[in-house]
Amino acid sequence: DRKMNIAAIRKRKNSSEKIIMLTCYDYSTALLLDSLGVDLLLVGDSLGMVMLGYDSTVPVTMEEMLHHCKAVSRGAKNSLVVGDMPFLSYQISNEEAIKNAGRFLKEAGCDAVKLEGGIEVADKISAMVKAGIPVMGHVGLTPQTASSLGGYKVQGKDLDSAKKLLLDAKAVEEAGAFSVVLECVPAPLAALITEKISIPTIGIGAGPECDGQVLVTHDLLGMFEKFTPSFVKKYANLAPIIKDAINNFIEDVKNDNFPDDDHSFSGNSEVIEKLKW
Ligand code: KIV
Ligand code: NA
Repeated sequence: DRKMNIAAIRKRKNSSEKIIMLTCYDYSTALLLDSLGVDLLLVGDSLGMVMLGYDSTVPVTMEEMLHHCKAVSRGAKNSLVVGDMPFLSYQISNEEAIKNAGRFLKEAGCDAVKLEGGIEVADKISAMVKAGIPVMGHVGLTPQTASSLGGYKVQGKDLDSAKKLLLDAKAVEEAGAFSVVLECVPAPLAALITEKISIPTIGIGAGPECDGQVLVTHDLLGMFEKFTPSFVKKYANLAPIIKDAINNFIEDVKNDNFPDDDHSFSGNSEVIEKLKW
C-alpha cells in the first residue's frame, strides 16, 4: 500500500498544504518523482503526444494507457498513481466506463482514474464511484474534445461559459469525484470554483488559488521542444543539455576517445596471447 491515499488528498481542501501532481509515463521517472514526495503521479493521456508522437490525445488506446500505467505503478512507493481514461473509454455506457476504469486498478496498479467532462459525464462518474473506483474529474479545457471547444484555449471567459464551467465542477463534485482538474481557466474563475466546491481543485493554467497544481513534467523540464503552453514555467531547459551530452558521445566515438581504458574490461592478456598465431 502507498503512503499517500485518497482521504488524505480530500483533506487538503481544508488545509494550507497544496496538492502536488505531475505527469509521469515511465518507471525511472516514477522513482524520481516518488522520492521527492510528489502526491499524485498522473499517467496522462498527454503521453499520446509526448511519448507516442500523436497530434492530439484522441487516438490514445486503453492498451497504450495500461502499458505506461503498469511501469509507473512499479516505481511509485508513496505517490498515488492516477490513470487517465482515454477518449471513448468511458462515454459509451456506465458498464464500459466501470469495466475500463477497473482495468486501470486491477491490471495496471493505479489508485484512481481521471476522466474529462462535467455535466455530460456525471452519470459515468457516479457509476464508477458506486463501483468503488476513486475518480478525479477534469473540466475547463478538455483536450479530448478540444476541437469542439475551438482549439486549445482558455475557457469560461464570458458569463455563459463561466456559468457552465462552475456547474460542470459542481456536477463532478456531486457525482462523487475526490478532486477535479481545472485546465485553462481564468484565475478569478478558478478561485471562485475552488471556493464553491467541497473537493480539491488541481489547476493547470488556472491561477494560484486552486488547492493544488499539475504540470506536464516534460514541459517544466524543458524536454519537449515541439510546443510549450504559455502557462508553463520551465524549471529547467533539459533539451539543450541532452543534445550536448549526445553530441559529446558522438564526437568521442568518432574520434576514438570512447571507450577508453576506464570504461573497458581489461581481461587476461595471457589468454589472449595463447589465442594468437
Ligand atoms: O493528460 C494530461 O497530462 C492531463 C493533465 C494536463 C491534467 O490531463
Ligand atoms: Na489528459
